[in-house]
Amino acid sequence: MERKVALVTGGTRGIGKEIALELANNNYDIILNYRNANDELQNLKKEIESKDVKCFLVYGDVSKFEDCENIVKQSIDEFSKIDVLVNNAGITRDGLIMRMKKEDFDSVISTNLTGTFNVTRCVIPYMIKQKSGRVINLSSVVGITGNAGQTNYAASKAGVIGFTKSLAKEVASRNILVNAIAPGFIETDMTNVLSDNVKESILNQIPLKRMGSPREVAKLVKFLASDDSKYITGQVINIDGGMVM
Ligand SMILES: NC(=O)c1ccc[n+]([C@@H]2O[C@H](COP(=O)([O-])OP(=O)(O)OC[C@H]3O[C@@H](n4cnc5c(N)ncnc54)[C@H](OP(=O)(O)O)[C@@H]3O)[C@@H](O)[C@H]2O)c1
Repeated sequence: MERKVALVTGGTRGIGKEIALELANNNYDIILNYRNANDELQNLKKEIESKDVKCFLVYGDVSKFEDCENIVKQSIDEFSKIDVLVNNAGITRDGLIMRMKKEDFDSVISTNLTGTFNVTRCVIPYMIKQKSGRVINLSSVVGITGNAGQTNYAASKAGVIGFTKSLAKEVASRNILVNAIAPGFIETDMTNVLSDNVKESILNQIPLKRMGSPREVAKLVKFLASDDSKYITGQVINIDGGMVM
């Protein structure tokens, strides 16, 4: 059977890296988008290829539309199709609104929300032509609940939810399924920067009393990419140890 192809944005570390590895474990060829190259990236490529699938590295800043056009053009030149798009690239620039700089608001929106639009806008025409596809967007539980100190991030992740539901309605007739994942508190560089006090107060709000792992999120992505989820679209699936019910 022809192998499926998955494009993962921001796949160099954290959740994106685990998603790329998990999909490679399940026989997907991987298009790994990166913004900063380093030795680690070549090691990751080798690790993915050791699973007998292809790994195509493609540079691009998702907040720039021209970069996204290039990411998708190069991917199509290489594989002729994209079956699964995982919009994972994301950043935080936390701060209370009284102190938040406009650049911090803008950069979070343009990476997390506009970046999701940019890549999806470039990929969807190919999915429509091939009459199938999966789009999986990384949102966050704070896009549902809000969070003091994260007006920019929560707004971007709430935006991703509205984007997901609208797109799911638009493209369902073309056999393209669109869902969002809302992680809670996952152990990555993004959460490592939080102080011990903040971490402890977050852990107190989690019924399962621990942080999640990138691997656990990657398993959910694998499910949403697979045939086992073909009657699920337009949903936001929390993965948060029960933090938000
Ligand atoms: N960790 C959590 O607790 C948590 C919770 C809820 C939601 N999420 C969401 O899950 C996703 C992954 O988070 P993470 O914790 O794995 O974050 P992370 O460890 O900080 O990794 C973020 C990845 O995104 C890439 N990236 C950032 N801006 C980019 C851009 N403009 N263009 C291309 N790539 C870009 C980074 O590349 P560089 O190496 O170049 O910076 C990096 O590979 C994000 O959307 C995040 O908002 C995370």
